[in-house]
Amino acid sequence: MIKVVYWTGSGNTQAMAEAVLKGIQDAGKEAELVFIDDTTPADVAGDAVIAFGCPAMGAEVLEEGSVEPFMADYETTCNGKKIALFGSYGWGDGQWMRDWEERLKSNGATIINGEGLIINDAPDADGVAQCEALGKAIAEA
Ligand SMILES: Cc1cc2nc3c(=O)[nH]c(=O)nc-3n(C[C@H](O)[C@H](O)[C@H](O)COP(=O)(O)O)c2cc1C
Repeated sequence: MIKVVYWTGSGNTQAMAEAVLKGIQDAGKEAELVFIDDTTPADVAGDAVIAFGCPAMGAEVLEEGSVEPFMADYETTCNGKKIALFGSYGWGDGQWMRDWEERLKSNGATIINGEGLIINDAPDADGVAQCEALGKAIAEA
């Protein structure tokens, strides 16, 4: 069971997560959506392949109440894992995602597709297709 663990404030990253989930399932793998507050780093520490979604928040950082503390713990266990990252953003240029990628890579993880998928605001049809394609890559990772 591949977990798609996400946080959302206004639904855009959730829409991405739902499309990523569909992409995994359409590629023939079992997957589930998990809101980040409903799991713990220990719960997912054994997952060889996993997806995380979080929008750009603060000033180009992860959401600070749930996602940042989760990642500070999770990154100590991510060596050798294949991890997909995605998230929605507003006015920035994706710095939060580049920082997130680097953080996990420096702890030994591989980022599926080489980089996180970022989408401005809500995903349109093309954005949904990009999310589904990421799901397929996760299923094949
Ligand atoms: C408190 C707050 C801080 C934000 N900070 C950034 C930011 O630093 N860079 C950016 O590109 N967008 C920023 N945004 C915009 C959100 O990333 C954008 O609205 C996104 O679509 C929200 O995703 P969500 O619907 O999954 O919560 C911020 C939004 C809020 C509410």
